[in-house]
Amino acid sequence: MDAQTLQHVQLFDKCTNFTKAREVQRTGLYPYFKPISQSEDTVVTIEGQPRIMMGSNNYLGLTHHPKVLEASRRALERYGSGCTGSRFLNGTLDLHEQLEARLADFLGKDGALVLSTGYQANLGMISSLVGRSDIVLIDKLDHASIVDGAKMSYGQTERFTHGNLQQLERLLEKHADRGTMVIVDGIYSMEGDIADLPALIALTQKYGAALAVDDAHSIGVLGPKGDGTAAHFGVIDDVDVIVGTFSKSLASIGGFIAASESIIHYLKHHARPLIFSAALPPANTAGVLAAHEVMVQEPERRERLWANTARLQSGMRSLGFEIGPSETPIVPILIGTLENTFRFWRKLFEAGVFTNPVVPPAVPPSECRLRTSLMATHTDEQIDFVLETFSQLGKATGII
Ligand SMILES: Cc1ncc(COP(=O)(O)O)c(C=O)c1O
Repeated sequence: MDAQTLQHVQLFDKCTNFTKAREVQRTGLYPYFKPISQSEDTVVTIEGQPRIMMGSNNYLGLTHHPKVLEASRRALERYGSGCTGSRFLNGTLDLHEQLEARLADFLGKDGALVLSTGYQANLGMISSLVGRSDIVLIDKLDHASIVDGAKMSYGQTERFTHGNLQQLERLLEKHADRGTMVIVDGIYSMEGDIADLPALIALTQKYGAALAVDDAHSIGVLGPKGDGTAAHFGVIDDVDVIVGTFSKSLASIGGFIAASESIIHYLKHHARPLIFSAALPPANTAGVLAAHEVMVQEPERRERLWANTARLQSGMRSLGFEIGPSETPIVPILIGTLENTFRFWRKLFEAGVFTNPVVPPAVPPSECRLRTSLMATHTDEQIDFVLETFSQLGKATGII
């Protein structure tokens, strides 16, 4: 059937009526889906020009580390290009089990489970553990995968204002007779602030609720060994479940859940995103094992990441940019309206600096921002160039 003979299908009206992105594309300011044709760690080539990458989650700069690349190559040769099946059936490798043992030990938990993305880890963890009569309480700035995991569960969901522990306590009190999970991001991905785990633990313990922490942005960044938010606060035993990803500091793709033996055993037999999706490929699994080893052996990378963070944050603040409550390598630069944000993004891009624009619905319409993030491998010269570029363009456009 060709296009002319196709009947009108009402279902697709939403697609033909969706014009917002096309309108921005016509202005030449559309900032999304920019293809990278080459990557050299902190510098990427886009549209034929080198740009300093200020939007990556590659916090430790390990995506090009020779040990990571070599481990991936060896796994590719030994196991092939993919697992072609679920962990549950034909897709489990000895490498997955090595990685699980490594993560459990590293995070101070009995066990860990490796999934194919961090997104799936949250879907699987929440939808399996929050049953029909249970409730999950989520911070309004929690990652979308937590929101989606809550939607996928049969339980009830309630949200509390970001970091508002009085509101959380009222919810805990109201639902004290039910199975309850509180879930927070360790580091919030758009704000760069850290969850107050000691205060959250005091509340969850008072009301007999479980506490889960999404450490996607904290592994490799917080904690004495890069072991995350609970380790940072010295409260590992008081956090019931730690979820994370390999797509940031661990320089690959994939996700994990770390918890007690009985929780992990239960998830192995109930988490649909684990059971009904193919396993993490060999090269990625071996790459994560190698990246983790480098992370432990080279703590100076984390030190360098924090030095870079201090340089960018103090530079931005002294130039007069608003960076909100950020206290980590995630440094959002508040711009204001969507149009100003896209215009400023474009000017930075043309000047050789790549950032990530964050606009509604991720943030309120007046709080659009450019999300920047540091890597351990950014040089002082690169950070100073970024600051100088922000300064010149910020003044030229009246943002500062
Ligand atoms: C807080 C948080 N959780 C989970 C995820 C999902 O991780 P992945 O990219 O591995 O699917 C992300 C990634 O953006 C994240 O920022």
